[in-house]
Amino acid sequence: MNQETQLYMPTRIIQGPKCLLNNSPLLKRLGKRALIVTGLTCSKLNGSLEDVIAALENENIRYKIFDQVSDQPTIETIQEAFEQNQREGIEFIIGLGKGSAIDAAKAIGVLFRNRGISAREAFNMQNLRSIPIVAVPTIAGSGSEVTPYSIITDHSLRQKKDFGQESFPKIAFLDPRYMYNADFSDLLANGFDAFTHLVEGYLNTKATFYSDLLAEEGFRLFSKLKAAFFGPQFPHEAMNDLLVMATLGGMVIAQTGTGLPHALGYVLTYEKGLAHGVATAAMYRGYLAQCQETEKLERMLETMGFSTLDTLLDYISELMDYRLDLSEEEIQLYTRTMIQNLGRVKTQMHRVTKTQLAEMYRLALRP
Ligand SMILES: [Fe+2]
Repeated sequence: MNQETQLYMPTRIIQGPKCLLNNSPLLKRLGKRALIVTGLTCSKLNGSLEDVIAALENENIRYKIFDQVSDQPTIETIQEAFEQNQREGIEFIIGLGKGSAIDAAKAIGVLFRNRGISAREAFNMQNLRSIPIVAVPTIAGSGSEVTPYSIITDHSLRQKKDFGQESFPKIAFLDPRYMYNADFSDLLANGFDAFTHLVEGYLNTKATFYSDLLAEEGFRLFSKLKAAFFGPQFPHEAMNDLLVMATLGGMVIAQTGTGLPHALGYVLTYEKGLAHGVATAAMYRGYLAQCQETEKLERMLETMGFSTLDTLLDYISELMDYRLDLSEEEIQLYTRTMIQNLGRVKTQMHRVTKTQLAEMYRLALRP
């Protein structure tokens, strides 16, 4: 762990049933006109869009809705959302939905703040600010409600990557009621994304005293929830813990960044269509086997309630229902691309070789 320690978390977190409706005056401070950024269906079915509209109307805030965000938002979608609404006097944006909607809201917010810069140009720039963002997650997972990251798909590069600007939301409203009707496979894949954020932040060279405190509390929550992931239903009373676990995961990676499994998994989502949380967890057999932080690994296993590393790996394997077939040429191509991205490889607990990376992909295969 680094000797100097710090924590930066500029997002106000408000958690609990109806928290958005109960705290709507906070929105008024952000402006008189809002843009709601969301997906096509979920927020209309789980009651969250209704709440957002009611909160805005309570405060006489005018709003527009952009509901074209898919699970993998693209640069083109970001540009489109801005162009459709650029003359509407938008002063702040509400990202409503999965991590993809919140990520998109952050990138769109950058275009509103920096008029004249296109989404593609912004992708290659740094330190651009955004207009204020409010995050309302409707599933526990990405932790985007408390991170500066915005993962956007660039089809020209055939990959997903961070938009590259620091856009922490001003406020995150965490209401577990929006998850009550979520599909179980969605809860599982997103819950595992949160799990991997906690682990990769904890076993990371950038881990600090504070990020470890947050991660260890996340592991404790995970130990309470881990049996529920076998389904077939996720109990409503556990949804709040799951939402908190995901937000803790977001707070951790906001300090440390994610680790190797995320970097290796993005290509599996883009090329093979695996859900992000599944693609990342698929890399864990190889990732944890080569972890050299044995003391922290043991503390993590103990806090999660696993007696050995193998017990944890078997638990992940049993839950992750996916098929993955990669040719040796694909493994070599993905590995080469990763090695070129040395910054990512260097943030791990130690340097990894091309051979080790290729082996991590091979261990994830499930023909
Ligand atoms: Fe993730």
